[in-house]
Amino acid sequence: MNTSDIVMPNAVAETLVNPRCYADKRIHDAYTWLRQNNPLGVAKPDGYDPFWAVTKHADILHISKQNDLFHNGDRQATLTNQESDRRVREITGGSPHLIKSLVQMDAPEHPKYRALAQAWFLPGNLKKLEDRIRTIARGAVDKMAARGGRCDFVNDVALLYPLHVIMEILGVPEEDEPRMLRLTQELFAPQDPDTARAQPADLDPAEYAKALTAVVDDFEAYFTKISDDRRANPRDDFATVIATSKVNGQPLPRLEQMGYYMIIATAGHDTTSSSTAGAIWGLAENPGELAKLQADPSLIPGLVDESIRWITPVKTFMRTATEDTEIGGRSLAKDDWLMLCYASGNRDEEVFEDPFSFLVDRKPNKQVAFGYGGHVCLGQHLARMEMRILFEELLPRLKSIEHDGEATMTQAFFVNGPKKLPIRYEMV
Ligand code: HEM
Repeated sequence: MNTSDIVMPNAVAETLVNPRCYADKRIHDAYTWLRQNNPLGVAKPDGYDPFWAVTKHADILHISKQNDLFHNGDRQATLTNQESDRRVREITGGSPHLIKSLVQMDAPEHPKYRALAQAWFLPGNLKKLEDRIRTIARGAVDKMAARGGRCDFVNDVALLYPLHVIMEILGVPEEDEPRMLRLTQELFAPQDPDTARAQPADLDPAEYAKALTAVVDDFEAYFTKISDDRRANPRDDFATVIATSKVNGQPLPRLEQMGYYMIIATAGHDTTSSSTAGAIWGLAENPGELAKLQADPSLIPGLVDESIRWITPVKTFMRTATEDTEIGGRSLAKDDWLMLCYASGNRDEEVFEDPFSFLVDRKPNKQVAFGYGGHVCLGQHLARMEMRILFEELLPRLKSIEHDGEATMTQAFFVNGPKKLPIRYEMV
């Protein structure tokens, strides 16, 4: 990596790897500075291999759609420090991946594995779930109404609804949902003191691999039982699809099978919960936007996409260059590591007018929170559908909404979103 004139100031680089900065405006201050001064700059934070921070919308698309030139699996697919990387490789015998799911794969393997789930998560197939999802959404709204006008929207509503939907799809029994929620939070936010399994992982790099291994072991123990059961007693659920599918004529190897269960059981709810809570946060802060929706419910899909843009729950994924290449006059070398900063792309002033405002009628809304290209979010149609249905049920009953105490965000640089959102509201 030739970095002489393109290295960003150390304070900015440290912000990109500091989970606490993702819980307040420091991360957006850093992104804004980078977009204006060094949109494709090199970060060299202490304890990490250097990486390029990709902060412009156009560059995120350019890289994401070239899946042969920018691989997911050659190095870590999510930001990892050198010490944790060393320990993971020790455990796996040299691989940078403790988990092997779609996000750690490249062609020719990736399209074959993705094909197993693709049809299931397309709008045509999801349509058959609409009525069931509406029933679950109505139940969530009824519970909110029964709380008498005050709740913590994250913990009382947003976390539970998409969790229930994806666990039904997967075939996980309701009594195990709290366990799945806890494991997901431990996997996605190991640096947050409220969700970390032990000490926040970034305080002691050695802790990270240890905690991650323990969480992965728990997931595996759980899904091994489910998988054994579905092979013996197939059902009409997604667990059966994973347990009985074949790739290259063979059942899925254990690592890949467990990776599949894990990505659906984690990516399938936390992100959608964060975006749903983001919608309520945005509306509580902007009563004018709630009034627009009340006057014109056809704006609900706009609310959904604007909330996803505003929160951008998946903050980063990493890519690795497979050859020397050039982007915007900058030379990248083979094996260079790149951080796709989706939340920065979603505040890009060249693409979004007034990017820091929450506008339910934003048009067009070219948000990039679901990624792009061969790895674009498999669950994007499900996520949009769940949110649309919830707001179709909630908005006709919601008269007003306001903050009722301090709202907070999780401290994590991979997936983060609202952690606590106390609100006061009037419902009919
Ligand atoms: C608002 C909600 C969601 C957001 C913002 C989101 C975001 C993302 C992002 C940024 C990626 C990586 C895309 C890339 O590399 O180009 C991704 C991948 C993925 N998402 Fe989502 N996601 C959401 C909901 C869901 C849901 C509900 C599911 C349930 C099935 C899901 C399953 C997946 C899977 C399996 C992948 C890996 C795809 C691949 O690598 O081929 N996501 N998501």
